[in-house]
Amino acid sequence: MFDLTQYMEERRRQVHAVLSRCVPDDGEHPAILHQAMRYSLFNGGKRFRPLLCMASAEAVGGSVEPALQVAAALECLHTYSLIHDDLPAMDDDDLRRGRPTLHKQFGEANAILAGDSLLTLAFELLADTPHGGRLCLELARAAGSRGLAGGQFEDLASEGGTPDREQLVRIHTNKTGKLISASCRMGGIVAQATSSDLDALDEYGRSVGLAFQIVDDILNITSDADTLGKSVGSDAAREKVTYAALVGVEAARSEAESLVDKAVDRVTQLHGTTDPLKALARYVVERAY
Ligand code: IPE
Ligand code: IPE
Ligand code: MG
Ligand code: MG
Repeated sequence: MFDLTQYMEERRRQVHAVLSRCVPDDGEHPAILHQAMRYSLFNGGKRFRPLLCMASAEAVGGSVEPALQVAAALECLHTYSLIHDDLPAMDDDDLRRGRPTLHKQFGEANAILAGDSLLTLAFELLADTPHGGRLCLELARAAGSRGLAGGQFEDLASEGGTPDREQLVRIHTNKTGKLISASCRMGGIVAQATSSDLDALDEYGRSVGLAFQIVDDILNITSDADTLGKSVGSDAAREKVTYAALVGVEAARSEAESLVDKAVDRVTQLHGTTDPLKALARYVVERAY
């Protein structure tokens, strides 16, 4: 039987090795900036987007090695988004991945610059791969004003408002879902997937991405800071628009479970090794942090 824990350990080790090589050393000038980048990157993130990227390559019959640098780029971009998400001007959080947030530890200007640098590094890493142009296009579309940045805009703009399902799906899809589906598509692109395979990966990613954010919001209510490594209760305090606020925790969880079922169904047709993708989808609703 497929062992997800072992799979995740092995793949995380591989991504860690690439990240460690690609991010400038702590001692390289300007040392504080490089220390800040490494502080945020190397402190226990789940590496979910890299895992999806690698598992997607495998699901369409490709191998993992060519996807590794792409996976590392995705984690750089994701980490930038977390650093900026935590800033006082945004969610104003003190705890991330079990440690003080970057602006608490290194100051606000350094946190902004470390985020900028990781965002830029993501594109540098992609451009330096065989399918660089196409991969940069995918990531740019997922991360810009029609994707993650636009979703973050609307997430903040909607604080204190009344939850509305259509708006909520749009916010979650943009701030979280698009990077997750891009991670899957980009793994597929590296493995030279057909366009119908890419469609399947895209739809899988959309469902998983929405489920991922629904569960993130549930954990903000039901979990504790030690387990999560970040503050809890903050969504309610900031009057964020969330699924749990809209329909309650139980109904939100069952929506997330249905989305995961749909995602698993969608990748059954792929001809490669699909067990990792299926198990990663299930992990989204089973995870404790
Ligand atoms: C948190 O992402 C932010 C969201 C998009 C919900 P993760 O839950 O993947 O955070 P890390 O990378 O494991 O810290
Ligand atoms: C984070 O959303 C989304 C991005 C960083 C793009 P949240 O603000 O809900 O995530 P957490 O709970 O702080 O990790
Ligand atoms: Mg936020
Ligand atoms: Mg936040």
